[in-house]
Formats: sequence, structure tokens, C-alpha cells
Amino acid sequence: MRIDILTVFPDMLEGFFNCSMMARAQKAGLAEIHLHDIREYTTDKHHKTDDYPFGGCAGLVMKIEPIDRLITDLKSQRDYDEVIYTSPDGEQFNQKTANSLSLLDNVIILCGHYKGIDYRIREHLITREISIGDYVLTGGELAAAVMTDSIVRLIPGVLSDEQSALSDCFQDNLLAPPVYTRPAEYKGWRVPDVLLSGNQALIDDWEFQQSMERTKRLRPDLLE
Ligand code: ADE
Repeated sequence: MRIDILTVFPDMLEGFFNCSMMARAQKAGLAEIHLHDIREYTTDKHHKTDDYPFGGCAGLVMKIEPIDRLITDLKSQRDYDEVIYTSPDGEQFNQKTANSLSLLDNVIILCGHYKGIDYRIREHLITREISIGDYVLTGGELAAAVMTDSIVRLIPGVLSDEQSALSDCFQDNLLAPPVYTRPAEYKGWRVPDVLLSGNQALIDDWEFQQSMERTKRLRPDLLE
């Protein structure tokens, strides 16, 4: 899968995608993540990517031309399944969205900034608008990082069997059960006996009961 991220602050994302699982997925050839600096697609001498809004309200709006040039350039090289815009007023991102996006081949994610982007970009170039939650960030970069991380880790081969995405929280609308590691006892705090029993059927049953109990208590909405 290939993800092209369009931003005025590529440096914000560079480090994130060069670490840990995201770096490994790219090195293994399972995911290609390309950061594009929107500023490089400006043609004026000040490399302006934003301007004052028509109508006189406060703040700056991202300009249409550099973003259109960049998207047109990418689209001339390959077909894209989705051109996503990160925005607090988009549809809410969740595990189901991550699952379906992870099945696509080529995706563009455009990070918004300032007061937003010229609305014509949303009307003519964007196919999907996604929010990562009901709060406002200074820009869409963190949203793009959050979405890309949760999508890429679902690509077959990115996680090892032991880390399988199938046992993730939310994958079956249940929260994950508690996990423990050695030592089995610390300051008198013991790991549940069943996990030390070696009886896999008992362990599976305990984990399922724990998942149900935690979901009912912490996220009853998931069971509705
Ligand atoms: N840009 C600013 N806030 C955002 C949010 N909550 N989700 C996605 N993009 C955003």
C-alpha cells in the first residue's frame, strides 16, 4: 500500500515514520509512505501556501493552486482510491475505517492547517473527509500520523503473529483483556493464577470474560 501525505510541515512527520513499526513496514516493502511539502508546489517568490479569506473573517486559508498542482501531479503517476482530507468536521475515524482503508492500494492524505483549506478543494478534489475526534488540533499532521499508523499496522505481514492485529482492542467490538509479564509476583501483586495454569482453554475463556467485563464497564456503547 502507498500513502502520500501532503503537508506544509513534513518535518513534523519525518521522525515519526522513520521509527519503530512504520519504519519496519517500509523497509520490508509492505508500505510506502511519501511526505510531500505543499510549499514546493507554489510558484510565487514568497512560496505562499495561505491567504486571507474572502468575506473578511479572521485567520488564514490554505490556497487552492499548490494543493491542486500537487494532487494533479500525483494523480498523473497512478490511480488513487481515496483523497482524504483531515478535518475536525469529517466522519469519525475508527477501527472499521482503518480496516477498510488498509485494503486499498493508493491513498492521498491532505493535512489541513490555519482556518482550513479553500472549500473548492473539498468540493472538487477530496473524496473523503476524516476526523480523529471531537477536538481541534492546530493542523492535520497528527491526524494523518494517527490514521496512517493504525492503517499500516493492519497490512498483512507488518505485525508478527504474536502481535496479531486480530487480538486488538475494538477488532471485534470488545476491549482487549489485561496482559501481564514476568515476574509473576511483584510486591505481593500477583498475576491471575489462570494465566500460569498452562490450560489454554481456561485461559481463552478467562480472556473472553475479562474482555466482556471491561467492555461492559468501560465502553458499554460498543455492545449496543
Ligand atoms: N485537524 C484539526 N483537528 C482535527 C481533528 N480532530 N481530526 C482531523 N483533523 C484535524
